[in-house]
Amino acid sequence: MMENLTKEFIKVFEETSENTFFAPGRINLIGEHIDYNGGHVFPCAISYGTYGLTRKRSDRIVRLYSMNFSDQGIKEFSLDNLVFKESDDWANYPKGMISYLYDLDSSQATGFDMLIYGNIPNGAGLSSSASIELLTAVAIEKMWQIKPDRINLVKLGQKVENDFIGVNSGIMDQFAVGMGQSNHALLLDCDTLEYSVVPLELPHEKILIMNTNKRRELADSKYNARRSECNEALRELQKVIKIDTLSDLSVTDFEKYQGSLSRDILRQRVRHVVTENQRTLDAKEALEAGDLVVFGQLMNESHQSLKADYEVTGNELDTIVELVQNQEGVIGARMTGAGFGGCAIALVEDDSLDRVIDQVGQAYADKIGYEADFYIASVGDGAKEII
Ligand code: GLA
Repeated sequence: MMENLTKEFIKVFEETSENTFFAPGRINLIGEHIDYNGGHVFPCAISYGTYGLTRKRSDRIVRLYSMNFSDQGIKEFSLDNLVFKESDDWANYPKGMISYLYDLDSSQATGFDMLIYGNIPNGAGLSSSASIELLTAVAIEKMWQIKPDRINLVKLGQKVENDFIGVNSGIMDQFAVGMGQSNHALLLDCDTLEYSVVPLELPHEKILIMNTNKRRELADSKYNARRSECNEALRELQKVIKIDTLSDLSVTDFEKYQGSLSRDILRQRVRHVVTENQRTLDAKEALEAGDLVVFGQLMNESHQSLKADYEVTGNELDTIVELVQNQEGVIGARMTGAGFGGCAIALVEDDSLDRVIDQVGQAYADKIGYEADFYIASVGDGAKEII
């Protein structure tokens, strides 16, 4: 594949590329819709992701070309005009990152050409956007000879989403994509950004990624609506208990104070956040203790909570998760990412994998009317230069 990318670069830009970078996608094992509520998440980087080939230019022009959007041709802009432009479409993600890094340190900034190719299904909830943001960040780090802390790049990625694109997402995706480590998951406290790296030891099991192929666009999904419901609930609870985030509430606090919330919907949302935060901590312990049965149960409970209380699953995700949960050899399953379509994950015993994919694939297509895609996740490193 690398050879094809090198050839494509020459075809598109009529020069050879100088450097090659890769940024992964991510799955979240558990801890969903928790990052923007100040609690714990448990994601890992996967070996699917985005490749970028670059060549520095001697002028101030940036030219970007994505093989995934080849019909859109080359997107071209100047370092002197790094503003969001509707017609730049996908290129606004790298453009946002370029703009913020330029503000950070432009002393050695030059224009460049970059060819991009991603093998993460896009819009599937595996963070193709965080992947392209961090890909751009590590490429620029090299080309402009700047050395910000990795965590600053992660934060700038979130700023691209929030301020440049306009999606109120949390820090989880960029964190996993930027800080991931091969064969490890990251338990991240989204309030303090303290984290621990937990070995993902699955001696006889695999993580199966199931793409419902129901597309999901964060910008027009109910994502921002869930965020504001949580803010509303937080403001109401702060009148009766001293908390900074919803995740500061323990399950017992929730029982005690839920009566002060003005609407049932808010109670449901908070119940999800509080119980999911606890499940995430429990899941980390179960994984460390090698207790995959408990881990799997927590995954199942997480899905149920996202379905009934947080209401972000939908027919396609519920169908695929229920089908897979009913298969022998499946230890647990849940949606992953924002929801409203996109992907689910399942922990499956090696011996059962082929049968599970076959039977779930067939039953899903029968029920939904189109096919799902299946991938085995291998857990890789965060964004970096590759040779
Ligand atoms: C999206 C967002 C993340 C996180 C998840 C839900 O992936 O980008 O910040 O909120 O949804 O857990």
